[in-house]
Amino acid sequence: MSTTIIAIRDAALTAGGEYSPAKQKAANKGIYNGRSPLLHRRIKQLLGGLKFKLLFCLSLICLVFWFSSKIGPFMGWNLDLPSSVSNPSRGGYTVLINTWKRNSLLKQPVAHYASCGGTDAIHVVWSESEPPSDQFKAYLNNIVSEKSQAAHKPNIRFDLNEEDNLNNRFKPIADLRTDAIFSVDGDVIVPCHTLDFAFTVWRSAPLTMVGFVPRMHWLDEEKNGMARYKYGGWWSVWLMGTYSMVLSKAAFFHKNYIELYTNKMPSSIRDYVTRERNCEDMAMSLLVANATGTPPIWVKGKIYEIGSSGIRSLNGHSDEQNKCLNDFVALYGTMPLVSANVKAVEARNEWFW
Ligand SMILES: *[C@@H]1O[C@H](CO)[C@@H](O)[C@H](O)[C@H]1NC(C)=O
Repeated sequence: MSTTIIAIRDAALTAGGEYSPAKQKAANKGIYNGRSPLLHRRIKQLLGGLKFKLLFCLSLICLVFWFSSKIGPFMGWNLDLPSSVSNPSRGGYTVLINTWKRNSLLKQPVAHYASCGGTDAIHVVWSESEPPSDQFKAYLNNIVSEKSQAAHKPNIRFDLNEEDNLNNRFKPIADLRTDAIFSVDGDVIVPCHTLDFAFTVWRSAPLTMVGFVPRMHWLDEEKNGMARYKYGGWWSVWLMGTYSMVLSKAAFFHKNYIELYTNKMPSSIRDYVTRERNCEDMAMSLLVANATGTPPIWVKGKIYEIGSSGIRSLNGHSDEQNKCLNDFVALYGTMPLVSANVKAVEARNEWFW
């Protein structure tokens, strides 16, 4: 009798496959189901893990919020980015719009930048023999007060220059209230949240240029002690993931640099810009690099160009750019630019680590 029972038990065990103590243990716990395939089990495991991770993340977020709301007021923390940007005690930025014979286009960028919370003032660099009419100024003033959502309305000023000279865009501005200048071409629109993010990047490195349009240089050849450099545009930066300049067509920098540009930079460089009607942005990049010995910071963000592209956004000017670069380096006596491979991205928008 007892031998038959043992035989039946053995048969049952062998029917389910080879006998294994682990399997037996699992079967006792009810985890292992002989008919469920391995894949099914793996998916279940993964889902279990995912659920746990989600739960963990949610609790962590709750904890952080609870914690910051408790100690935030005491520590001066502020997790809310936009309000910290528009907080007047910390200063916003002055938008410096460079326009050139495209006044009909001015309305859109003025309306847009007036609507950004961090904008303290808008300065339009006006380089024409005819000053803007009072009617046009009143019209833009209206747009600014209409669009602004900040308690403190940005004011709009025209910095008048009679001659058309690219150095005008870096002329010192009277009654500036912010340290930060956002320099932008009249046909470039940067969305407000992107601008505010770049501003926080700039605040963590206020001596550096922080911008959206990177450019690079590299050593082309060296002949009897003379180095020749090449200027690389968008494609080069994309290919190599390296840059050493950000263009002032959309960039933050400290107000001291416009002072330096106009009053301290060798006048031969400004004369060069006047004569060649080009490369003021490169001159600014070299100035900042020479002053700091550090690279600029490229910020990820979409920017939009409005209207038909001006002559300067067209490609095919690389010979001129190469010439500027090498002539400037000769004037400096050394290559001040420093290369970088860093790109600032908004962590809140990045889902994959
Ligand atoms: C570059 O920086 C050095 C050190 O700050 C300074 O002495 C020099 O005048 C600068 N060069 C130019 C051309 O501005």
